[in-house]
Amino acid sequence: MPVSPASPSDVVLRLDGVSLGYGDFTVLRDISFEVPRGQVVAMMGGSGSGKTTLLRAATGQLKARTGCVQAFGEDLATASPEQRQSLRQRMGVLFQQGALFTDLNVFDNVAFPLREHLRLSPQKLLETVLEKLESVGLRAAAHLRTSEISGGMARRVALARAIVLEPELVLYDEPFAGLDPISLGITARLIRGLSDRLGCASVVITHDVAESFIIADQVYLIGEGRIKAQGTPATLATSTDPYVRQFLNGEPDGPVPFDYPATPAFQSWLTRQSAQT
Ligand SMILES: Nc1ncnc2c1ncn2[C@@H]1O[C@H](COP(=O)(O)OP(=O)(O)OP(=O)(O)O)[C@@H](O)[C@H]1O
Ligand SMILES: [Mg+2]
Repeated sequence: MPVSPASPSDVVLRLDGVSLGYGDFTVLRDISFEVPRGQVVAMMGGSGSGKTTLLRAATGQLKARTGCVQAFGEDLATASPEQRQSLRQRMGVLFQQGALFTDLNVFDNVAFPLREHLRLSPQKLLETVLEKLESVGLRAAAHLRTSEISGGMARRVALARAIVLEPELVLYDEPFAGLDPISLGITARLIRGLSDRLGCASVVITHDVAESFIIADQVYLIGEGRIKAQGTPATLATSTDPYVRQFLNGEPDGPVPFDYPATPAFQSWLTRQSAQT
């Protein structure tokens, strides 16, 4: 069933005709989509297809080459550094590379954004952090050092930190990576719950077809530098598009490329290597 178009004030993140890249390498072209309040949008695509690049555009870390990126109705390209900073504070980001502060324990990692942005009493701070840790099943791990927790636990601590300020937009880069099936299910429900309960907009970058199809309102499939397919999980599940079918079924053969494409930069590197041998 198609979702009804969101009213402009409900749109938290909008990309319109955006292309993105690094140096002379264009990663994505003509990307347009909207993320309304309360919705969970899943971004899927092969490794290297540009999902993290898209997240960098949404945070303003990477500038769009063409087109427009709007967060909370503000154009990131024309916003002043101060405006960008205040828009950024309304977003929670779970980075693909966990990035916990290794010199802080679990509690202080999650408390960090609260201490930066709010003046809470020590009691309120303790309650808020423990509540967020509880939501990822790690309340009793609050005292542990980051060297004492597992990779999957570190992902969940990073997730608790990303949502501790209850942001209006949360961008999750591979939130399920390294999680066992139970933690994965709980994390997926947590993401859905935040959108339902707080009305936040969620962008979930993931390879996990099963879990994202359960929680997402809209799914975008990225490939060959653009949006290859989009729709509700139900529409995509019944799609006959060979690209969609191959991706969803994880089949080795088909139109989805596996090899990283050879670029002029690779060719000239190889030529230099060959010349040296
Ligand atoms: N800082 C950078 N400088 C130059 N090229 C980059 C940079 N970051 C990413 N790329 C290139 O951009 C392309 C897209 O990378 P990106 O990290 O967005 O992929 P991804 O879809 O997130 O992949 P994965 O699923 O493996 O995380 C890749 O070809 C990558 O080599
Ligand atoms: Mg990535």
